[in-house]
Amino acid sequence: MLLSRRKFLGLAGTTALVATCSPNALPDHPLFNKSLGTPPTDSLKGLQEFLPKRDQLLGYPINMNIPPKEFFTWRKQLFNVGLNQFGFNNVGNPYDHSHIPFNTHHFEKELIERFGLIYGFSPQNTWGFLSNSGTDSNMHGIYIGRTLLKSRSGITPKIYFTQEAHYSIQILRNLLNLDWVIVETNADGSMDTNDLSQQLLANPNHPALVVATIGTTFKGAIDSIDDIQTKLNNRESYLHLDAALFGGYLPHTSFAADLLHETTQATKIKSTRYDSIAVSCHKFFGFPSPAGLFITTQSIFEDFQLQFEKIHDPEYILQVPGTITCSRDAAKPAEFHYFSSANAFSKQVDDAKKMLDNANYLLTEMRNHYAHLNPTRANNRSNTIYFKRPNDAVVNRYSLATMGLTAGSLRVPYAHIVVMPHVNKHILDTFLADLSEKT
Ligand SMILES: Cc1ncc(COP(=O)(O)O)c(C=O)c1O
Repeated sequence: MLLSRRKFLGLAGTTALVATCSPNALPDHPLFNKSLGTPPTDSLKGLQEFLPKRDQLLGYPINMNIPPKEFFTWRKQLFNVGLNQFGFNNVGNPYDHSHIPFNTHHFEKELIERFGLIYGFSPQNTWGFLSNSGTDSNMHGIYIGRTLLKSRSGITPKIYFTQEAHYSIQILRNLLNLDWVIVETNADGSMDTNDLSQQLLANPNHPALVVATIGTTFKGAIDSIDDIQTKLNNRESYLHLDAALFGGYLPHTSFAADLLHETTQATKIKSTRYDSIAVSCHKFFGFPSPAGLFITTQSIFEDFQLQFEKIHDPEYILQVPGTITCSRDAAKPAEFHYFSSANAFSKQVDDAKKMLDNANYLLTEMRNHYAHLNPTRANNRSNTIYFKRPNDAVVNRYSLATMGLTAGSLRVPYAHIVVMPHVNKHILDTFLADLSEKT
């Protein structure tokens, strides 16, 4: 029996409708409502209004500078060869042969190698990829750490971090179903490694997966990699660095050694200081959309692959991808490659210097004029100044992030400014003047 068109429409899903019928045949179907055109250009005006105000964003670690023209030229060149025009996809391991040739794995691999060098990874022993964000990179670090520790000891590790760690770490430990240990902090917000020792002693039967934050989100504190490693001595462990913000600029300052993956000891023996690192691309670098660097060693990755291939059947894409996510953006690695060029690196050096100088300027001015707000900078590597929360007008005008900090038995409201590359002295002076009027 033939189905009538109406009956067919009632039975079929919308995909079938779109695929099989022309709009004329369905005048009353909401999918074909003529008012659903492209957005009117008027609606772009709302977005345009933000352009001049973008340098007022002081409360979050986003570089609001527009990248140099060279970057957009590069983007255009990529577009001209098809990128962002059709379905390129970076599914899989950028270091492996891909059965799907429409990818930018060679750019991805090259940029990881260039940044790997900056973080002191040995060029013959580097693996990584460009993720969706700092959080995505943290997820891969924690997942690889969990997988390796479980495979080596047969016991699921416990994850250690402080309450100053980014909130996504709590989400990830929940997602990965890990028991957790909160380590106490020092007065500056960094991990108290004596407490870490105590906690390790109190949890003797589980391997330790430690997430150290290099630049905590609110206070800008730095967990000490070397002290953590000393406490982890002889323990089955994995150390992942969440360097979402500071990881972008520290390598371009006199503090570059802080993040080096390998150090040469007095004995001339090289030792590794951590297992993997996560850095956001939209924070310091000012890449215009969220992305993240994830870098580890080739040997860690190979050990991980041995476990990963037990749970991942490579038949469909002809390789074990190494990443949790299947489809991956191909445009971002190719575009972000620009940020690993000599010109971009030299701009990053300038930006890093200006940022730290301006953070210093803000701290000095606030101490001189607003000491009652208790302005604080956790350390001389930090671009973050936190202080007692000013009134709503200032908080809203500059999009300041706020948090209650514990002082004795009290919870005192605080705000912070993250001095990013777009935050110049002029903006800071305007902010300081607003503080006088409005606090
Ligand atoms: C220390 C730290 N880790 C992770 C993140 C999350 O990074 P993303 O926004 O790239 O996911 C942030 C964001 O502010 C952060 O400060």
